[in-house]
Amino acid sequence: MAENFIIPSGENRKDAYESVLPQIESLIAGEPDLTANLANIAAALKYGMNFFWAGFYLVKEGELVLGPFQGPVACTRIAEGRGVCGHALKQKEAVIVPDVNLFPGHIACSAESKSEIVIPAIVDGNVVLVLDIDSDRPDDFDETDLAYLTKLIRLVEGLYTMQTGKKVTV
Ligand code: SME
Repeated sequence: MAENFIIPSGENRKDAYESVLPQIESLIAGEPDLTANLANIAAALKYGMNFFWAGFYLVKEGELVLGPFQGPVACTRIAEGRGVCGHALKQKEAVIVPDVNLFPGHIACSAESKSEIVIPAIVDGNVVLVLDIDSDRPDDFDETDLAYLTKLIRLVEGLYTMQTGKKVTV
């Protein structure tokens, strides 16, 4: 299935999501391994959506630990409340940051990163991981990204639940 992945052409973000999300669903269908699926989702987002950095931080003992990603090397651990990802973990809600330089405590993994969106996956009422996407363009994320990436994170919550047997509460 992976060899059939089609990279959308054109600049329209909505059309790109409409092409990439169903392909992600096919990629993960029938594969129960969470790491394998998160790795392919990160690659599909990076190359399908042409994002600068796309990946996951998993919650381990109360802090975020770097998981599967595509893009430049990133910091490995983020404490709850720190940076954009730690903020999403603490508040249990998605964050859109139009200008990372204006976000108090933003963790700059790359000087090229200009804007960011972070969406938490919530299982059993707890954040279990966050999806982090960075752009090298300012103000690159809006409600369209939030809507499509929230759909994606619902799939990820399902994957997590399948792997751990825990219950998704939205
Ligand atoms: N900028 C993030 C850190 C992770 S990197 O962007 C990949 C933050 O402030 O949480």
